[in-house]
Amino acid sequence: MELLCIQSQEHPELPLAELKAVMECEDIDAAIDDVAEGLVVLKDISDDKIEGYYKILTRRLGYTHEVHEMIIKSNTEKLDEDIKSVDWSEYIDENFAVRVKRLHSQIDTVATERRIGTLILENSENIKVNLSKPKTLIRVAAFENDLYIAIERFKLNKKHFEKSKPHKRPFFYPGSMNPKLARCMVNLSRIKEGELLLDPFCGTGGILIEAGLIGCKVVGSDIYWKMQNGTAINLDYYGITDYRTFHLDVRELKMYEKVASVVTDPPYGISTSTGDVDGEEIFKEFFYSIYDNMRDDAYLCMASPHYVDLNPMVDEVGFEIVEQYGIKMHRSLTRIISVIRKKLD
Ligand SMILES: C[S@@+](CC[C@H](N)C(=O)[O-])C[C@H]1O[C@@H](n2cnc3c(N)ncnc32)[C@H](O)[C@@H]1O
Repeated sequence: MELLCIQSQEHPELPLAELKAVMECEDIDAAIDDVAEGLVVLKDISDDKIEGYYKILTRRLGYTHEVHEMIIKSNTEKLDEDIKSVDWSEYIDENFAVRVKRLHSQIDTVATERRIGTLILENSENIKVNLSKPKTLIRVAAFENDLYIAIERFKLNKKHFEKSKPHKRPFFYPGSMNPKLARCMVNLSRIKEGELLLDPFCGTGGILIEAGLIGCKVVGSDIYWKMQNGTAINLDYYGITDYRTFHLDVRELKMYEKVASVVTDPPYGISTSTGDVDGEEIFKEFFYSIYDNMRDDAYLCMASPHYVDLNPMVDEVGFEIVEQYGIKMHRSLTRIISVIRKKLD
């Protein structure tokens, strides 16, 4: 069986990297066909696994907008025969709607929706079209002339990322990252539900909210009491209960329990205070301090500005960089997202 993933196109690499990281840590066994930017098909999934995988992906992913169960891959030429070959009663419950999403395709969306809807009606009994509140949504992703026809079984909570934007939280302070990127970074850290995630520069708690919402235990610390308190207010607001917060300098960090992942956005530039540490020095001090607080198999996912070279610092401390992605913020700043782990001996 197959799952169709429609992804954000706001970054050329992060959506696929996030999907691969979740598949890795959740042991999702499937072949990845990355058809085009924004369109990925997961193939060769066993029947008994598909529902579980589907639920995990819809619950966790930030940069994937939709996940659907594939029914058939067709194209504009052989659409009639392909639609006829499907037993639609297996998929459609009373009524349905067809919605087409174009990804690098010139096809006429409305005409294709009508054509597929009519063909389904002609090849089935006792079903109707209901465009406003369909019980079954048939989702079609069009790539060039290919049509990936799928059914929506579980919905992603798309509104969450709108509702959790920094200025909509009860405690706001400038400098919190976009919640989708925060979720993606949590996923890149390969953390699993129930495991412990730490953000030692937690600020307003943006990263911890995303980790808490996918079921991680979270710990946040910040040099300022005001931030510790604000993080707790925000976590409470989003219904996250399994958390602890501290206010301390990252250089004094000593966890009782080693963490399964660290996800963080350290301070840099003139807009964020670094306590009394200078510019790049904070990164090095952070690596030294965090190393012993991480499990040997833990991942660290962090953001940094392009002008700070992390390579010599991580190497000195005993870490290695395993993935890196650049996000252009403006002409003079690219944010680098790095996935780091302890060097294997
Ligand atoms: C870029 S902000 C983090 C934003 C955060 N991700 C959020 O969602 O709001 C960096 C944070 O690091 C904190 N900080 C600065 N120097 C620190 C230090 N030496 N130890 C711990 N925290 C520090 C600042 O107070 C600030 O809240």
